[in-house]
Amino acid sequence: MARKIMVITGSPRKKGNTNTVVTWFVDAARKASAEVEVVDAAHLEYKANGCTECMACQQSDKYECVIDDEASAVIARIPEFDVLVCATPVFWFGPSAQLKLLLDRTFALIKFNPETGEPIHGESGPDKIMCLIATAGGDQESGLNMLDDVFRTAAVFSQCRYESLLVSFAPSDPKQMAERTDVKEQAIALAERVTAGHV
Ligand SMILES: Cc1cc2nc3c(=O)[nH]c(=O)nc-3n(C[C@H](O)[C@H](O)[C@H](O)COP(=O)(O)O)c2cc1C
Repeated sequence: MARKIMVITGSPRKKGNTNTVVTWFVDAARKASAEVEVVDAAHLEYKANGCTECMACQQSDKYECVIDDEASAVIARIPEFDVLVCATPVFWFGPSAQLKLLLDRTFALIKFNPETGEPIHGESGPDKIMCLIATAGGDQESGLNMLDDVFRTAAVFSQCRYESLLVSFAPSDPKQMAERTDVKEQAIALAERVTAGHV
């Protein structure tokens, strides 16, 4: 069966550096027979500016966010996928606010044991893979490494395998990203590994 990959992108620029790398990844994954769905988190319709901490998700048997908007529909479908790829520019040493708006609400995919506080996972697990694709204007220490730590920690917490593609010194004119053939090769290699489950 084809591996199912969901890519959630968080750049406000549809043709920016991050989405150029995402396009390389997606084209290669589809070529390798993966079923790929791309969600543009920066252009969804939101009814809340992030998780409202209403805790309704924790009081329900369902693994879903109760806010009735386009982000909830995406979050409810994440467990259907074998691979979740998050793609973001580094903004202020972290992920873009646009991506974080959606990611915080994936809290709804986990329940916590009321007595011990231990997480009770929904359908994540060692067969699942999480990836990060991130681009930054600066070097690795200008946010990419911190971002990598955050997403690796989230993957460990979610009991998923993890891999990242970190692109430093991304050009200020995103048209020049097309010239980064080294990054294109890395994006294609990552797509092929992920599609084969070799992470
Ligand atoms: C609001 C803002 C904050 C940024 N913060 C950082 C940063 O903390 N570290 C860094 O290396 N680059 C930073 N950059 C540069 C972007 O990460 C870089 O240009 C990125 O490739 C943009 O990706 P995009 O074209 O997909 O939006 C910032 C850019 C903007 C607009």
